[in-house]
Amino acid sequence: MAVNPYFDEILDRRGTASSKWEKYAGQDVIPMWVADMDFPAPAEVTEALATRISHPIYGYTVVPDSLTSVTLNRFAERYHWSLTEEDLEWIPGIVPAINQAIRGLVRPGGAVVTATPVYHPFLQAPGHMGRQLMTLPMTADDDWQFPLRAFEQSAETYPEIDLLLLCHPMNPVGRTIDETMLAAIVEICVTHDIVIISDEIHSEIVFDGRMHTPLATLSERAAQQSLTFHAASKTFNLAGLGCAVVIAQNPHLMARFKAAGAGIMANVNTLGYVATEAAWSSCEYWHQQLLAYLTDNRNFLVERVEAIQGVSMTPPEATYLAWLNIEALDIKDPEAFFRAAGVGLSPGSQFMGEGYVRLNFGCPRALLEQGLDRFETACLGRWQT
Ligand SMILES: Cc1ncc(COP(=O)(O)O)c(C=O)c1O
Repeated sequence: MAVNPYFDEILDRRGTASSKWEKYAGQDVIPMWVADMDFPAPAEVTEALATRISHPIYGYTVVPDSLTSVTLNRFAERYHWSLTEEDLEWIPGIVPAINQAIRGLVRPGGAVVTATPVYHPFLQAPGHMGRQLMTLPMTADDDWQFPLRAFEQSAETYPEIDLLLLCHPMNPVGRTIDETMLAAIVEICVTHDIVIISDEIHSEIVFDGRMHTPLATLSERAAQQSLTFHAASKTFNLAGLGCAVVIAQNPHLMARFKAAGAGIMANVNTLGYVATEAAWSSCEYWHQQLLAYLTDNRNFLVERVEAIQGVSMTPPEATYLAWLNIEALDIKDPEAFFRAAGVGLSPGSQFMGEGYVRLNFGCPRALLEQGLDRFETACLGRWQT
């Protein structure tokens, strides 16, 4: 197991108004819920922020040209994805952009479809915008595969479906989606005129040498049928800086997306641009070290979970989130149960996954070990009663 003093160090986040840690302020609870990591951002990011902060005027900011070229180069190099400045729209967050997209791309009375379990704002956004939500359950038995047949049947049966929300890779189940499946999804969407939102925020945290394929790079049809949401925030731990990007190569979809946010969607903040540019231009070495560390954390977690009676999991292929099956323990309120045992987890019900909890392993190994000790003790106690 690789030792890395940088990622091993436990930094005290109390007093930084961290959502993750404030939730359990004053309690002896290790927070392993929301998807940010307990690692410091790369030094290059911190230095770029310090340089910008040293100029003490923080007025309205346009998208820096340098960020645009870093972004276009990055997509070209990593994914052979040829984009132009007009294909990019910078936004302060993917969650508001999901809501905006639904507003602009789904008819009033129309429906949004998504595969579950899934990141909970996917489930909430259609209701916020007065649109219908249709869900397609995935199962562990089917190895959390995207439910293609069910999707096709829904697309044939319900012409009101205007939009597919795709989590690629998938939070919380930690699955990647391969090119064959992506192509089949695109085919159904083109046939039934369903726009795809491919949320690729977790796409740079994929393990075991896998390569992410952005859905839009599969074919011209895929590019024309979709919007991609991307950000540096998960990979480089910048979620509090509020910066993400929407990519749409179809100018009509881009225009409808932008129109739906007019007067509502805020600009990206000055520091979000700076941090994203630094992360995407000079931190690939850091990203590789992070992947090595997270891979070890994942393997450690899988080994530990194998030894816990009543708990099982499929090793994540992507994301620093583990999806743990605790059905056999028959716990009514898993969040409260594990909180009482000193570990803060996300209940599966939040993602439409009853009988599961989600555990964030993006933290120093010692903290992970301590969290797992508490988790194991709590599960053992439950198993024996
Ligand atoms: C799939 C997915 N999309 C979006 C987000 C959050 O994006 P943002 O912070 O830009 O709103 C998350 C955070 O966990 C996520 O898992």
